[in-house]
Amino acid sequence: MATIGVIAGDGVGPEVVAEGLAVFEDVARLDGPRPDLVAFDLGGERYLRTGEVLPDSVLEDLRRCDAIYLGAVGHPGVAPGILEKGILLRLRFAFHQYINLRPVKLFPGVETPIKGKGPAEIDFVVVRENNEDLYVGAGGFTYKGTPEEVAIQTSINTRAGVERCLRYAFDLARARGEARTFPGLSAEDRGKGMVGQVTMVAKTNVLTYAHDLWMRAFAEVSLDYPTIKVDYNHVDACCMRMVVAPERYDVIATTNMFGDIITDLGAVLQGGMGLAASGNLNPDRTAPSMFEPVHGSAPDIAGRGVANPIAAVLSLGMMLDHLGAPRGAHAVRSAVARVLAAGAPRTPDLGGPATTREVGLALRQALEDLSP
Ligand code: NAD
Ligand code: IPM
Ligand code: MN
Repeated sequence: MATIGVIAGDGVGPEVVAEGLAVFEDVARLDGPRPDLVAFDLGGERYLRTGEVLPDSVLEDLRRCDAIYLGAVGHPGVAPGILEKGILLRLRFAFHQYINLRPVKLFPGVETPIKGKGPAEIDFVVVRENNEDLYVGAGGFTYKGTPEEVAIQTSINTRAGVERCLRYAFDLARARGEARTFPGLSAEDRGKGMVGQVTMVAKTNVLTYAHDLWMRAFAEVSLDYPTIKVDYNHVDACCMRMVVAPERYDVIATTNMFGDIITDLGAVLQGGMGLAASGNLNPDRTAPSMFEPVHGSAPDIAGRGVANPIAAVLSLGMMLDHLGAPRGAHAVRSAVARVLAAGAPRTPDLGGPATTREVGLALRQALEDLSP
């Protein structure tokens, strides 16, 4: 049994989580722990009803879970930041989920808006630092609401926090190198025994303190990984290169803020927000990790039952990997690949007429068809 804390949250969150949990029940028959689901009523509705965002006692209940599965938070009736900082960021920080792992992978059969690129060219992973930078919430106002107002919001970067993120990225590049051939390496690189690449994405030409620390840590950590090629892009150039030459990326390591921004672009490369999955990982396993789609509560489509559940289902796949059920995780990804390759059913974001539920049912059917 694995105790899974479920925070369905706001907007499309409950709609996509319902499909993810149905897939989870089915896949548990193939591999991995049986899910013991514990629902947590958190999000905009609870806040509007009770004024509570995330009570300390609830945080402690979540701490006892083996993993957390989250839909999305963010409510049109609640001021921006209250739920996002009070729930999502509080959990990421309190549970030391210092890696935000965001694969960017185009499945066969899915159209990317990037001309001339296909699944062979779009297959990389963003390792987003998840506990520092502008997200710490350091700062404040003086003279708020007056013409002399000053607002300060500080980016915090610690050597230890940066280094653990970079080491995770290099370890991941090495593991990926064992499983596949990264097309971005030249024959000469291969001749030198290179198997993968880490691209650090930052802004060393402007953030000459914070990103100088990042760059020095990157250079030092890389010495421990002689088979991994080092690469650096300024974040603006990264946005350009993700579009014109995504095949040049294997693993990207980046800051919390830049990682947030470039992974929405990454979502588009792989077919849209409806397909992008993520894991907020505590690699030391001192507290639960949390799995959620990259997308938000999508208030513009919420309540209509048309949100794409695949991002949530792929996030479930990442949770199964983390829970030590690689066969289950593989089955989930294979089911997604099969449904996407078939071309139907598809929700409106992918150009189809299907509902969230219909896609969920097709995924479960694919799981059954694929099971031995
Ligand atoms: P969003 O990701 O919710 O939506 C952006 C666009 O993508 C919208 O057009 C939406 O319809 C579409 N989209 C998103 N998920 C989809 C899905 N599963 N299927 C089909 N289309 C989908 O981003 P936003 O509009 O900037 O934010 C809405 C709210 O969500 C805000 O309150 C924001 O703070 C919050 N948010 C929460 C999370 C989270 O909980 N992890 C992440 C991002 C944004
Ligand atoms: C994401 C979201 C969050 C972030 C917000 C909702 C706090 O955009 O998970 O990408 O900025 O990390
Ligand atoms: Mn985001």
